[in-house]
Order: sequence, then structure tokens, then C-alpha cells
Amino acid sequence: MTKLRALQANIVTLSVDAIVNAANSSLFGGGGVDGAIHRAAGPQLLEECRKLGGCKVGEAKLTKGYKLPARFVIHTVGPVWRGGGNGEPQLLASCYRNSLAIAAKHGLQSIAFPSISTGVYGYPIELAAQVAVETIRDAVRKPSKMEEVLFCCFSPSDLAVYESLLSKG
Ligand code: AR6
Repeated sequence: MTKLRALQANIVTLSVDAIVNAANSSLFGGGGVDGAIHRAAGPQLLEECRKLGGCKVGEAKLTKGYKLPARFVIHTVGPVWRGGGNGEPQLLASCYRNSLAIAAKHGLQSIAFPSISTGVYGYPIELAAQVAVETIRDAVRKPSKMEEVLFCCFSPSDLAVYESLLSKG
């Protein structure tokens, strides 16, 4: 059984097999968690990202972690919130599902997700966290080597939202 857990941390400090990056479709870096990951990983990460040909919303691509404690970075692109009626929940669910599928394909045992789309992209945290938890709960039913999925929250209020959802079993 895969364990699901929320914690408050800077995702770049986590010693997991892969951390997930909430990137943009260029994969050339940006602000928020994307900027923090590129700064901590060093310039080789951008070099590898430049060769990937971008990433569509809802899709995910894997790179090495370079100077990060995490072995890999899985870059995914969340939807911009436009009121919720433009496929945002489905696209956000795809981010979680495709990131986990890449991790499983590489036999990874631990992964940490930031709260994708809930910063600059404006997705309301309560709604986004519900999609994240439901999608991961559903996806980990498939057999894989994944032992632990972490929801890495940047703020105490985000952590409270995730913990409340996870406590509801
Ligand atoms: N560790 C964990 N979570 C973090 C960190 C960190 N170091 N830094 C920020 N967060 P955002 P988005 C949280 O804006 O909404 C970039 O410019 C943050 O508090 O990073 O998907 C990309 O290049 C929030 O809860 O990502 C894109 O252009 C969550 O991470 C765009 O932003 C996501 O916030 C993507 O926007």
C-alpha cells in the first residue's frame, strides 16, 4: 500500500526519488516553485529542459535532479484557473496522474508534489487539493513500487487543507 502524507516544507530540500515541478509549457524556468527548483538544481537542469521541446498542460516530463537531493525532477504544467468551467479539474488531475505514471515507469519509490496551479496560476487551494488527493488515491490502486507520495505544502494554511482531506480517508 502506498502511503499518502502532507507536510510543510521547501520542496527543494526533500530527499525523495522525485520532486514534481509546477512548470510552464516552455520548461525554461519561471518563478514560484519552478524558480526555486532551478536555482537549487543548478544550470544543468535548464540545459536538459531546453532539449525536451516543452510540455503541454496536463502532461509531464522527467529530468535528472542534478544538485538537488532528489534524484529526478518531474516537470508538469498545471492549468491556469479561468473559473473552473474550462477543463481545469481534468487538466489538473492529468498532471498528478501523468507525473505518478512516469515515476512508476521508472520504478521510483517516493515522490513529492507541490500544490500545482495554486500559486501564480490562481487555482483555489481547496478545490485543487481535492483533485490532487482524489487523483492520487485512485492512481495508487495500480500496483507499483511507490511507497510514499508526499503533498509538499509551502504554507501552514495549505497544509491544513491537505491534512483535513487526508484525514477523511
Ligand atoms: N516548495 C514548495 N512549494 C512551493 C515553493 C517551494 N520552494 N515555492 C512555491 N511553492 P507556483 P503555479 C508553492 O506559483 O501556480 C511559475 O512561474 C506555492 O506557494 O509556483 O502552478 C511557472 O514557471 C503554491 O502553493 O506554480 C509557471 O509559469 C504552489 O507552490 C507558473 O509559475 C504552486 O505555485 C506556474 O504556476
